[in-house]
Amino acid sequence: MAGARDGDIYCRMNRIYSSVLALGVVVGCGNDGSQSPTTQVTAATGGNLSTGGAASTTGAQATTGGASASATTSTATGGNNTGGASSTASTATSSATGGKSSTGGLSSRGGTSSTATPSTGGAPASGGNGASGGTHATGGGNSTTAPTGGASTATGGRTAVGGASSAGGTGGATATGGSRSSGGSSSAAVKVCSVPSTLKDASACNGKLIGTALAQGQLSNSSYTAAAREFNYATPENEMKWDTVESYQNNFNFGPGDTIVNFAKQNGMKVKGHTLVWHSQLPNWVSSLSTASAVRSAMVNHITKVMTHFKGSIYAWDVVNEAWDTPSKKGDGTATLRASVFKNKIGDGFIDEAFQAAKAADSSALLFYNDYSTEGMNDKSNAVYNMVKGMKERGIPIDGVGIQTHIGTPNDTPTAAEVKQNIDRLAALGLQVVISEMDVNGCDGYTADSMAAIYHDIVAACVSQPLCTAITVWGISDSGSWLNSFSEAGCNGKQATPLLWDGSYKKKATYNSVMKALTGS
Ligand code: XIL
Repeated sequence: MAGARDGDIYCRMNRIYSSVLALGVVVGCGNDGSQSPTTQVTAATGGNLSTGGAASTTGAQATTGGASASATTSTATGGNNTGGASSTASTATSSATGGKSSTGGLSSRGGTSSTATPSTGGAPASGGNGASGGTHATGGGNSTTAPTGGASTATGGRTAVGGASSAGGTGGATATGGSRSSGGSSSAAVKVCSVPSTLKDASACNGKLIGTALAQGQLSNSSYTAAAREFNYATPENEMKWDTVESYQNNFNFGPGDTIVNFAKQNGMKVKGHTLVWHSQLPNWVSSLSTASAVRSAMVNHITKVMTHFKGSIYAWDVVNEAWDTPSKKGDGTATLRASVFKNKIGDGFIDEAFQAAKAADSSALLFYNDYSTEGMNDKSNAVYNMVKGMKERGIPIDGVGIQTHIGTPNDTPTAAEVKQNIDRLAALGLQVVISEMDVNGCDGYTADSMAAIYHDIVAACVSQPLCTAITVWGISDSGSWLNSFSEAGCNGKQATPLLWDGSYKKKATYNSVMKALTGS
């Protein structure tokens, strides 16, 4: 197990969060020309001449009040410090604070938690309250768009990512330059909505599903169910795993799963089945099978019977879970297919076979591969990327990839920019991506604010990609989190604080930050 306090985590944390504190830092990535624009807007209202791709002379450079304006004071970075060669920070008034976390370029997180209050330098410059230009800028100046217009909802540039999928937000009351202009091939504007009163209403703003893991044992708790009703997507935390469903060979127990499905139906929630083929929570009788044909027929029988039972009630299935392994639980080091009875007896082809059996059992459910420490850019996520790319090329019926997003010990702590990059490359294969089990390990020493920022930025990374279709958090209240009993998380008896509600079902800063990200702010 990777140590909780090794240099890697701290380096990466520094990478993320020291920048939050570094005002006006310029770390432009330069306009490296790696992305070419496929569309170019030359007269976007309010957004000026924003964006275009790398080859464009526009982009951040031409954005009034945007990235090409040089910072003149160390604190002036309002909103539009969206990376780029000469970018960062508009000139600004002394009150500008937006983008304080931005560093331009690849890891730019400008404006993430920023606000760029009453507008900032440059003529109609960048954003007003709520401006967050550059939140997800990751590609230097290629495609960033600075908000303009100084209106209170300016968010231009929020989703810019180096051209490939750039898109700005709206630029204010009348300004729409950010949202129209885009330099990339898969542009999509993030819609900005006022913050409603439930998560599911917030998720509707940008057409996402917002999910939680549901535990049968908690459904008698009215505080729990009230919070659960905020979601429109549910994953049974344990009730559809092999050790529950088929603890004896060919003897199925669907009761717990049915309970979750019924609760979901009564409350208008879609259900993600979890999970069909996994090395863990697997009964001994499966692990003890000794021949390839015995394992194959047990696997296919399990997939077929379980999917047939739940057919019509399940929107998507995690067909294979956690098949990849690396020496570090953070996803670094040579990735190999994990030893399991499936891999050991059937061979690497068990994954293809599982997806084929799943498709045959229920052709209407979406079929996902799901794994942890595969959110950012690392050896493990590269392995998953290459695997699913190959599956697509071979015609294996896979619809998407789940990135679990258990952030922190013992798992990876990726930057939001990396997550965005990984989500976008998977989407470019034509696959859906979902954040499938998000929590942030509070026992790692995060503050309430830093946890809220992590939630915000990672959820926003999903919101900015049209093919990122769902965000699921792994539980409801902190007291019910699995991290309280997961020894590797290092909570050691302390109350874990990884979720959106505290142990008394009070909404936390993380809840508010997810609301904001879903509504484009
Ligand atoms: C966890 C559950 O939350 C716990 O209740 C259970 O004891 C162990 O499994 N990755 C997954 C989930 O895919 O199924 C795991 O859920 C958490 C890690």
